[in-house]
Amino acid sequence: MPQRGRLITLEGVDGAGKSTHLDSIRERLHARGHRVIVTREPGGTELAEKLRALVLSQPMDALSETLLMFAARADHVQRVIAPAIAAGAWVLCDRFTDATLAYQGAGKGVAQDLIERLAEAVHPGLQPDRTFLFDCSYEVSKQRLGAAGKQLDRFEREDREFFERVRKGYLVQAVKQPQRFTVVDASRELAEIRQFLAVDIDRL
Ligand code: TMP
Repeated sequence: MPQRGRLITLEGVDGAGKSTHLDSIRERLHARGHRVIVTREPGGTELAEKLRALVLSQPMDALSETLLMFAARADHVQRVIAPAIAAGAWVLCDRFTDATLAYQGAGKGVAQDLIERLAEAVHPGLQPDRTFLFDCSYEVSKQRLGAAGKQLDRFEREDREFFERVRKGYLVQAVKQPQRFTVVDASRELAEIRQFLAVDIDRL
């Protein structure tokens, strides 16, 4: 039986630049001899990508949003993440349940306890082995999102107060679980961040 793989997640407020670093993390893991699977949430399967398109565009209440995030996650975990980890791959996932705790929980007021119970039902016993949390200020986020010139989704259009609640929600989680989280100051130079990530990855 192959050795169990790992689950590595990337998290952070919108515009923190986590997608920019996904490639360098993948390359570093690959260079260390791991088979790497890159995926994202919401998304990663045919059903979950359909739910993603819906949830990023359709206005809805926070509870519906939470349940749809977990519906997408259930399909994704069963079809992609769990089998890949069982087969020994390292799964690099752009967002996971920490995003639900930050956005729907801290950001929109859905009870943390409910989110934790849903997480226990959807991915029992599965927690990321490492979570890179890309953190930046509202100003940096707005500037990056503006410079990217893309159409903003429902979450990216939210106001400063929402952004600050989400940011704080993430940072509180990182403080509670320092052994799992690595907080990355996303306002630093790209090369500096890459170097910082490489050192952390080599310790995994
Ligand atoms: P992305 O742009 O980083 O791919 O993420 C899509 C958006 O979905 C992002 O604004 C955060 C949001 N999101 C949630 O609100 N809850 C979740 O559980 C996940 C996975 C993402």
